[in-house]
Amino acid sequence: MAKRNKIAVVGAGNIGGELAMLVARRELGDCVLLDIPEKADFARGKALDLMQTGALDGFDCTITGTGDYKDIAGSDVVIVTAGVPRKPGMSRDDLLSINLKIIRSVAAGIRENAPDAFVIVISNPLDAMVYEMKKQTGFKAGKVVGMAGVLDSARMQLFLAQAAGASVRDVRALVLGGHGDTMVPVISNCTVNGIPVTELVSKDKLDEIVKRTAGGGGEIVKLMGTSAYYAPAAGAVVMAEAFLRDQKRILACAAYLDGEYGYKDLYMGVPVVVGGAGVEKIVTIELSAEEKAMLDKSAEAVRGLITDSAKL
Ligand code: APR
Repeated sequence: MAKRNKIAVVGAGNIGGELAMLVARRELGDCVLLDIPEKADFARGKALDLMQTGALDGFDCTITGTGDYKDIAGSDVVIVTAGVPRKPGMSRDDLLSINLKIIRSVAAGIRENAPDAFVIVISNPLDAMVYEMKKQTGFKAGKVVGMAGVLDSARMQLFLAQAAGASVRDVRALVLGGHGDTMVPVISNCTVNGIPVTELVSKDKLDEIVKRTAGGGGEIVKLMGTSAYYAPAAGAVVMAEAFLRDQKRILACAAYLDGEYGYKDLYMGVPVVVGGAGVEKIVTIELSAEEKAMLDKSAEAVRGLITDSAKL
């Protein structure tokens, strides 16, 4: 019998709700929205509200809400948004101790109930959370990945498109490193339909874009009083789709590094191939000395967070 894909979303908040919406609209599969038991009814209500858009939007996927991990059994993909979002003035790192506890309990639920799932972590501080997820689940490195590079690259694509006066659809950008202030937007890899952005946008403007990209999340927190949710959800759905449809897409993701780029036992944003086996390959690209130095700094910042996590 043919079987629908099952996508579990842990955390039925802002990102979780948008994720379920996108999963249904793209008809990726049935979706389970899980939250803490005290918020199970909230998750059920949100699921019902979302499902009632089906007649209007024309999808027939099932969306259910729950507070029980048993309901994620058999999931092909689990997307983790559980945690506290950033408040104005808070860095992603300030979230470490709060969200670490949450990730540990979520990891136990996934390990016990969805041991074959491809796990995509969104919770911040991202690189430390995804590292902890792999550690606690014991899943293979290729089955646990973090969503950040696709989002940071998408933000940069928008800023570049606006500066170049081009459609965002034609712009390609690449952002590597940790999902924090030390991220590394790689200008030499940014193009507008093959044309290097350096030919279309001035050096000063590019410098400004690099800075704005690194502070892209904070810019939204300052405006909204909470962290972004539409673009983060869209980023994770692109990754989930690449896995479910075995698309072999090359995407910037927080992946487990075991010597690649000179880093060991670390999660950080690098280009990877995402297909039916999960993260199938880490793509190594040439970096200038300056870019490599920036990446080293970013790796150091991530390492610091991982070391701090081990003490908590
Ligand atoms: N298990 C399941 N859900 C949990 C748990 C847990 N142990 N702890 C908290 N949650 C739920 C909350 O009850 C809430 O419904 O996670 C949800 C988070 O939703 P929001 O507060 O709306 O946060 P959101 O904007 O979705 O961001 C979630 O993603 O980008 C990151 O920094 C952001 O870490 C934050 C996460």
